[in-house]
Amino acid sequence: MIADLTGKTALITGAANGLGKGIASILAQQGASIVVADIDFKEAQFFADEIVSAGSKAVSVKMDVTDVDSVDKAISKIINTIGPIHKLVNNAGVIGAPGWHERLKVTEEDWDFTYDVNVKGTVHVTERLHDNMIQQREGSIVNIASVAGKMGNPDRPNYNASKAAVISYTKSAALKLAKFNINVNCICPGNIWTPMWDKISMRQFNYGSEIFSEFPEVKDNRELFERITEISTPMKRAQSPEDIGYAVAFLLSDAAINITGQSINVDGGRVMV
Ligand SMILES: NC(=O)c1ccc[n+]([C@@H]2O[C@H](COP(=O)([O-])OP(=O)(O)OC[C@H]3O[C@@H](n4cnc5c(N)ncnc54)[C@H](O)[C@@H]3O)[C@@H](O)[C@H]2O)c1
Repeated sequence: MIADLTGKTALITGAANGLGKGIASILAQQGASIVVADIDFKEAQFFADEIVSAGSKAVSVKMDVTDVDSVDKAISKIINTIGPIHKLVNNAGVIGAPGWHERLKVTEEDWDFTYDVNVKGTVHVTERLHDNMIQQREGSIVNIASVAGKMGNPDRPNYNASKAAVISYTKSAALKLAKFNINVNCICPGNIWTPMWDKISMRQFNYGSEIFSEFPEVKDNRELFERITEISTPMKRAQSPEDIGYAVAFLLSDAAINITGQSINVDGGRVMV
């Protein structure tokens, strides 16, 4: 065990797939009761059942982080049925609007959709939940940003800008909530093979890119992901969803209570600011 979260309830958005699943699994192993909140309710239910079968506590709730009513309803439902939520992980995120990976041009819709989910979604859930945390004078929040938020990328400027906004919002929320004993930090992951990277590398595989032209021999987008990761990461390996989960567990634990407003890279040494 790296962090004792026994008796605490942790809500993780976008936890039905990818990174969110790894984070939820690690938090469950630390003793937390898990709320799997996702727009994809079927997968959320399925995954919550899996956590319960493994011996931990979990429930699922449908939540669209872009829709304030949906966020309000989901949070009220959870608080009324299982009690206060002590820990929040804003993980739900997108790379672009639906179909992004099937076109090269980043559209107005991509910018709006990415900001709605990644930035405003994080704000909606934080602002709807922090009143409950303020009443308890207890709470910890971790936002999942990205090292993309500390770099430029001409292929997906919408995504990088949205993650820079999450890093910035983390600092504002940390300043607002510090006096209530609530800390707010973010984790900036590097490269993790999830449905999101499946789309990113599919786009590069189909349309080519400067990086892809260095590897004409790669046979599929998964191999392209591995090669891109290898050349861009000093430790020469991708991260796993669980790697991110360990860092989140620490930031949500009492051991991190004096850390707030920070953005911590979990990226094999790719970005050092
Ligand atoms: N995969 C990576 O390498 C990587 C790297 C850095 C940061 N991240 C960030 O990690 C987070 C998770 O990414 P992932 O790779 O697991 O993506 P993913 O596409 O595999 O999973 C995203 C999850 O978010 C959910 N979701 C999407 N829109 C939602 C909405 N409006 N409301 C509620 N849930 C919604 C999806 O249903 C899905 O379960 C994102 O914020 C992403 O930007 C990922």
